[in-house]
Amino acid sequence: MSLDKSACDIIQQGEIISCNLTPLGSNYTFTVQVQLGDQTSLGIYKPRDGESPLWDFPSGTLYKREYAAYLLSQHLGWDFIPYTTIRDGPYGIGTLQLFVDHDPKENYYTLTEASADQLKTIACFDLVANSTDRKPNHLLLDEAGKLWSIDHGLTFHSDTKIRTVIWDFCGERIPKHLLKRLSALYTEFEAPEGLLREIQETIHPDEMDALRRRVRWVLSEGVYPGLPGRNRRGR
Ligand SMILES: Nc1ncnc2c1ncn2[C@@H]1O[C@H](COP(=O)(O)OP(=O)(O)O)[C@@H](O)[C@H]1O
Ligand SMILES: [Mg+2]
Repeated sequence: MSLDKSACDIIQQGEIISCNLTPLGSNYTFTVQVQLGDQTSLGIYKPRDGESPLWDFPSGTLYKREYAAYLLSQHLGWDFIPYTTIRDGPYGIGTLQLFVDHDPKENYYTLTEASADQLKTIACFDLVANSTDRKPNHLLLDEAGKLWSIDHGLTFHSDTKIRTVIWDFCGERIPKHLLKRLSALYTEFEAPEGLLREIQETIHPDEMDALRRRVRWVLSEGVYPGLPGRNRRGR
């Protein structure tokens, strides 16, 4: 599956013609069918009002974080978060994300070496976005072997609180091409434009400052953090 323009249009502009609660979410998460003209697409709808309150994240902001994570991935050119938009739905404003056809038997723990490069990109993104909820089933493998990442509501907190299952690469150097992109991003904070500007308008100013600090931290470290041995290979 690639980022199909027409599927994105359907998600953004189409009419939601069915809406069914997903049993697996910790927030109210719905699988929806969206129709535009004679075309339909499946999406995942997460309304703000269905977000479970948390002690450490301001209430009613998870959908914005979900969207900002998508924007950041796109801005970096790291295409692993399904198309996501903010729009109105049957239960009010929330995110609508393109549904990824995937094998539900696959998750982080079943991935092979073939996914290592994709995992490295996602692990690097998680450091920058401050992913606080990287669970095994938040990685979906599509039929083409492409890895997709979902559920980014718990991101961009201004306190660093990365919680992830991806410890495979701790101590390893972050690939040069990823650092190069982050280095360019770092300079862009001076005068945010385009999607970075949109991220700035979506998260709190303190969180934008923290994002910039994390980019600087990742660039200065240059390696994946973590405790050696705390990875799947070390099990
Ligand atoms: N874009 C997507 N494509 C396919 N399935 C998805 C997608 N987003 C979520 N899901 C499914 O919905 C479940 C709940 O979504 P998730 O984002 O984890 O919600 P929550 O915020 O409630 O934890 C996931 O475990 C997955 O099975
Ligand atoms: Mg989840």
